[in-house]
Amino acid sequence: MEDWFDVAGKLDALVTKAAQEAKLDLEQFAADVRPADPRFGDFQANGALPYAKRNRENPRGIAESILAVLTSNEQVASRFELSIAGPGFINFKMKPEFTLEWLKAFSSENSLNQSASHLMEGKTIVVDYGSPNTAKQMHVGHIRSLVIGEAICRLLEFCGAKVIRDNHLGDWGTAYGKLFYAYKRFLDEEALAKDPLGELERLYRVGNEIAEKDEEALQECRDELVNLQNGEAKNVELWKLVNEYSIKGLKEVYELLDVEFDHYLGESFYRDKVDQVYEELLETRIAEESQGALVVFHPEHKRYKKQPFIIRKSDGASNYASTDLATMLYRLEHFKADGIVIVTDDRQKDHFEQLELTTKKWFEKTGRETPKFDHVMFGKITDDQGKTIKSRSGDPIRLIDLLEESIQRSYAIVSEKNPDLPENELQAIAKTVGISSVKYADLTPNRTSDYVFSWEKLLSLDGNTAPYLLYAATRIQSIFRKLEPGILEKIELEANAFETSEEQALARKIIEFVGSIQTTIDTLRPHTLCSYLYELSGAFSSFYNANHVIVDQPDIRARRLLLCRQTLIILKMSLGLLGIQTLERM
Ligand code: ARG
Repeated sequence: MEDWFDVAGKLDALVTKAAQEAKLDLEQFAADVRPADPRFGDFQANGALPYAKRNRENPRGIAESILAVLTSNEQVASRFELSIAGPGFINFKMKPEFTLEWLKAFSSENSLNQSASHLMEGKTIVVDYGSPNTAKQMHVGHIRSLVIGEAICRLLEFCGAKVIRDNHLGDWGTAYGKLFYAYKRFLDEEALAKDPLGELERLYRVGNEIAEKDEEALQECRDELVNLQNGEAKNVELWKLVNEYSIKGLKEVYELLDVEFDHYLGESFYRDKVDQVYEELLETRIAEESQGALVVFHPEHKRYKKQPFIIRKSDGASNYASTDLATMLYRLEHFKADGIVIVTDDRQKDHFEQLELTTKKWFEKTGRETPKFDHVMFGKITDDQGKTIKSRSGDPIRLIDLLEESIQRSYAIVSEKNPDLPENELQAIAKTVGISSVKYADLTPNRTSDYVFSWEKLLSLDGNTAPYLLYAATRIQSIFRKLEPGILEKIELEANAFETSEEQALARKIIEFVGSIQTTIDTLRPHTLCSYLYELSGAFSSFYNANHVIVDQPDIRARRLLLCRQTLIILKMSLGLLGIQTLERM
């Protein structure tokens, strides 16, 4: 049964084999198996059409020749009813015995976990996410990289990859001059201990304000920066201290969001690694000098043949491109990365396109492997006018404030619904609901589009929201709580094949889980999994409303309980992969 874990994948292989036996040219044929319109079947293979078009043949004839081979294949014929629809789609309808067999084989979290862990076995992926600039508060926009990045890490791990979580801090900026100037004069120690990021940001603002008005102070700020860059002991010490405080402040938010990094290798870490980049790129003639700067043109590219990638500034200083190139090399050599994923907003699109093009040429010319590279980019969070959301004072909203507001709002809703729950439980539930709702709202829209932030929407119990899914999970749990002891242990033995259309539809949705994980991983777009979960909950509701679960006949009850349990396992597991905790009750 193990090789049927990914039904679509397995069918894809079988259809391809059948096409070969039917003497089709495999160079031109792709089986293209995907979930089907339920009216026609559970899966469909669409490959006959483009093949026929390319070869000026009759698509139905092509589909029939493949079907003839498939029908005589016991592996397929015993599990599916086959048919051809429309101009030449091959439809596969799972026989109820097969559906049941699948559900029994992958009925535990363990068995699902184990089967999924082969999908990316042996791969090491470095995921660079979070990655804010230091000595500053995180604001609302920062949540996207964290939440999307963490979901991607968990999904990759679920598929068996070894994931290295690296927080590539922007910790070597020009802001340090003004910050140090103010730090040395106006530090509020108490505030620094209590709210490190808040105090560091305040100090920077103070430094900035003074420097704007006072020429002498501005010069002192510049000197502070130069001293730091020249490695003057006192300022390097202070820089380290500021970073420690920054990371401390960041970690408070990370803890709330349940995110933990393996490394904090920020831009500063690569300072002494950029010279090798310049040398190698010059030697391989990938880079050239232009007006004192070191630049890379990509003549084969529409835009980057004119717009160069500046990898060293004309004053000789390194920049974002230099440190990122060094970072690519370090991740390949030190972490042995097969893949590198960097999660940032879409304004950095050009930078990462140029980084990818440059790295590819550089690694090829120097005989290195080139890791697979993905820039996972995302759009803005806006208000209903399409503008970046701001607090009432007009400043960006601090991330921590947003999370706390969400917890408070959830508390109001949860305590009104459950006036009898003890206070500590109410608070725990409100925390989970509050954090989950903000996270889930960030994951449901396709990441490359902007989305409109709305408290009403994200805390609603209707629609594709965290509260809706968390509630769906608690509802199934309450079915199990009411069962007589011993019943759940026997369901796999007692269950008989599915009969009603709702049972069959839910079973099929459950089996689609595998495909939905695949697509999510292939595209690194967590919203695919969110949409799947919403559909799964919908299929569950339809089933639950139309079919009584606790009936007297043990075989019917068992198969329905099997569906309930499987839905719950997948809901819980998938929400976990999205970084969302489920609740026993809410
Ligand atoms: N610090 C950058 C920012 O705040 C993001 C860094 C992303 N990672 C990287 N390797 N460039 O926008």
